[in-house]
Amino acid sequence: PVALYGPSRRNSCGLSFADEPGLLQLAEELRGSLPLARAEPLLAQNSAESAWQAVRNPADTRQLLGHWRATAPEDLPAALQAAREAQPAWNARGVRARAALLEQAADALASARAEFLVLLVREAGKTLPDALAEWREAVDLLRYYASQAHTLMAAPQTLPGPTGEHNELQLHGRGVFVCISPWNFPLAIFSGQIAAALVTGNCVLAKSAEQTSLIAARMVQLLHACGLPRAVLQLLPGDGALGAALCALPQLAGVAFTGSLPVARSIARSLAGGEQALPVLIAETGGQNAMIVDSSALPEQVVKDALQSAFYSAGQRCSCLRILYLQEEIYERTVQMLIGAMQELGIGDPALLASDLGPLIDAPAQAALNAYAAQLRAERRVLAELSLPPETGAGYFFAPLLAQVRDIAQIGEERFGPILHVCSYRAKELDAVIDSLNASGYGLTLGVHSRIESTWRRVQQRARVGNCYVNRGMTGAVVGTQPFGGEGLSGTGPKAGGPHYLLRFVSERTLTVNT
Ligand code: NAD
Ligand code: ALA
Repeated sequence: PVALYGPSRRNSCGLSFADEPGLLQLAEELRGSLPLARAEPLLAQNSAESAWQAVRNPADTRQLLGHWRATAPEDLPAALQAAREAQPAWNARGVRARAALLEQAADALASARAEFLVLLVREAGKTLPDALAEWREAVDLLRYYASQAHTLMAAPQTLPGPTGEHNELQLHGRGVFVCISPWNFPLAIFSGQIAAALVTGNCVLAKSAEQTSLIAARMVQLLHACGLPRAVLQLLPGDGALGAALCALPQLAGVAFTGSLPVARSIARSLAGGEQALPVLIAETGGQNAMIVDSSALPEQVVKDALQSAFYSAGQRCSCLRILYLQEEIYERTVQMLIGAMQELGIGDPALLASDLGPLIDAPAQAALNAYAAQLRAERRVLAELSLPPETGAGYFFAPLLAQVRDIAQIGEERFGPILHVCSYRAKELDAVIDSLNASGYGLTLGVHSRIESTWRRVQQRARVGNCYVNRGMTGAVVGTQPFGGEGLSGTGPKAGGPHYLLRFVSERTLTVNT
């Protein structure tokens, strides 16, 4: 059954293969050969001269998946012009028509399950459960934003006023949005940003991540096949330099960005320096996510949740656990249990159901983690690390590692992979621990394991984080149930998959009529 937005929707942490008929067969098919795919900019003249670049499977770089072609920067002004010309008519179509188109796209995406799972596993290196959860999330986001737009925009809000006067508040699309997405949710975040901008009456210039152009191209093709005009949504594949050029375009209504903090900062600087418009910036970035565990917590639950939150998805979720704080009385025992449980993790081809972890996304990601792991070894801070099975040699794999740290400050930047840091704290230091997390400036996810309600409430109220999870894992936010996004260095808000997200994509206009 396809996940529909609604009360029957289950948490993606609880996914089971039994829920998905045909998945075992799909896993078998994934081992076979695939047709080659292509991604290229649409409506772009000069880009036809760009060289085709190979797309390879990050789990086995010998496997060629297809080719993509980058957008030539000279094509950006024409793309913007086409979008600006198309926007008034798209806005005038009304929210019912736009929401109906998203619903139609959700149905089409739901029907194309196998194809998108194959792409997510092969191009993004996702394990099958992760691919399944992401495909479900993308379907949910399309339906959720369609329904939210309807609620917000179907009729203007009538406001009180004196007799003889009619006042109303209307919501309109703002203009042209640039949407820039990361490779780690190449379908859900890519589709969610676009859907929010489109359904509220904006046109979109979409820049997918360079590592995952094929998934983006297929999704855009699906939307166009549902009747979305080509000028209303234009895919502009490219690297970071193309993203920077897009953000420097004049007369943008806004930029919806999800990715790393340094890039978010550079986009903010670029938009602030522009001459002609005051664009909106939605920037969702990374985190230094902690889990705090006190001595009342259930040890087996802690180990399972910590392991999954830190190592599943190869640690490549912004929500992943990076630092585990254990109350000193349970530190030794919990660390020993963690080391034991780590040995059971399966690393390998993400198409195999036995694999808990697939590869990292690319060679630079692997090199960065290898360098950091070498530093941890040199400083004698490694408590345990797995070794890679020989069959992973042709991919960008990295074996899970457990390291001790003094505190969060010692970690430095976000380490985007399966590395879990651990440290101990005394019960009387709990507030100081939370203050140190706040002082890092990041505020994305936080886990708390405690059976004492006053403790987890105190932690949640003191911590400046967007998503706090108590006595469970801390990844896999569900659309409409756990609106997702951080504070401080982790994001500007509003939360994706939440009731306020669409409001950043609209202009509010007040109409006053003397009746
Ligand atoms: P990234 O910042 O390197 O790239 C993200 C996107 O920005 C890509 O499309 C890239 O091409 C583009 N880009 C790069 N430089 C640019 C520039 N100067 N101007 C404009 N665009 C530019 O991030 P990534 O490696 O793709 O993704 C991983 C990061 O994303 C991690 O930091 C992770 O925490 C974060 N993330 C956050 C969320 C969230 O919701 N908060 C979700 C997923 C990922
Ligand atoms: N929304 C994603 C999660 O919760 C990033 O893991």
